[in-house]
Amino acid sequence: MATDPWRDEFPVKDELIYLNHAAVCPLPRRTAAAVCAMAEEYRDRGSWDYPHILETVRRGRERLADLVGARPHEVAYVKNTTAGLMLAAESIPWREGDNVVVAEIEFPANVYPWLNLRRRGVEVRMVPARDRLLRLDDYRAACDTRTRVIAVSWVQYSTGQRMDLSALAEVAHDAGGYLVVDAIQGLGALQADVTKMGADVLCADGHKWLLSVEGCGLMYVSDRTIGDLEPFWRGWTSVPDPLDFGLHDQPARNDALRFEEGSANVLGAAALDASVGLMLEIGPAHIEQRIIELTDRLIEGLREGGCKVISPTGVGQRSGIACFSHCDRSADEVVEELTNAGIAAASRMGLVRLSPHFYNDEGEIQRALAVISSRSA
Ligand SMILES: Cc1ncc(COP(=O)(O)O)c(C=O)c1O
Repeated sequence: MATDPWRDEFPVKDELIYLNHAAVCPLPRRTAAAVCAMAEEYRDRGSWDYPHILETVRRGRERLADLVGARPHEVAYVKNTTAGLMLAAESIPWREGDNVVVAEIEFPANVYPWLNLRRRGVEVRMVPARDRLLRLDDYRAACDTRTRVIAVSWVQYSTGQRMDLSALAEVAHDAGGYLVVDAIQGLGALQADVTKMGADVLCADGHKWLLSVEGCGLMYVSDRTIGDLEPFWRGWTSVPDPLDFGLHDQPARNDALRFEEGSANVLGAAALDASVGLMLEIGPAHIEQRIIELTDRLIEGLREGGCKVISPTGVGQRSGIACFSHCDRSADEVVEELTNAGIAAASRMGLVRLSPHFYNDEGEIQRALAVISSRSA
């Protein structure tokens, strides 16, 4: 495997072996520099050159749209994944007795916003996991004509299972509902195309595979969906002409930008602009291919070392996450061993979770495998 020419963008490689992008990522050089430059702009000149500042925010949104195959007006900045999911949950025109279908093993960001709808008479139907994995048939069985939403992570945080979004979209749409996607464990690692996915809403924060900071992410809302949503949320920047300060009877915009309610997180947008710019330069297809090569190597080595790999490896199910259990150590013990060796990993739901990004290299994977197998001897 060739050394990645972009590896030098990642100073973290000189400190640690970072295999924990499914948690919180390290920043590329250019992203840290962009945030510093924006902070210095405010330090030295305040909002003197505000058009330049707004240009960064606008370009970041355009790049995010590019990354997911959307148009810029279909993409809003949001505070985090949860905020986007809550906005979706509260905007759908529910009728008493409607239901939302969500898996019991979803990360809580994609559970509480739906449970919160019980106050409005919405039923939350939990799809069971079998041996930790989710099956399309179980989603089908949970849906009926009162299903308004299937809410699903593109990639499951606790197993790395990549979900078949286009198949789930078909199930949701056949029932007359929407597909709402928590994309944080896929976006930035896997090639995204919201049209092929059939997603009506898709949300992700920036701090995992998108290689950006915490607290600034995106919410995509498709043009075909926005008109159905209730504009329950209307802040001063949600309206067509936010600079007409005296005009108070403006409706909410009829695109995703209605969900941007006030001043932007400019430093967060600058970070996303730089990181997503890097990804577009490298090419999402190349990034995905590198990640799959690295996780292939990991999975092969883990199996050779006697570990039980839980992440599914079937066609279309792979992601950047490899989860496993060790033959004679708990997940916490293995993660402690890795941490002591300067290798960042995570313990989730009783499994060890490794999540390399495209800039990791073969040597780092071998080093992690050596630490893991040295304890089973
Ligand atoms: C699937 C999934 N959704 C959401 C989150 C985080 O949500 P937020 O961006 O709101 O912090 C995580 C990780 O921490 C996650 O794994």
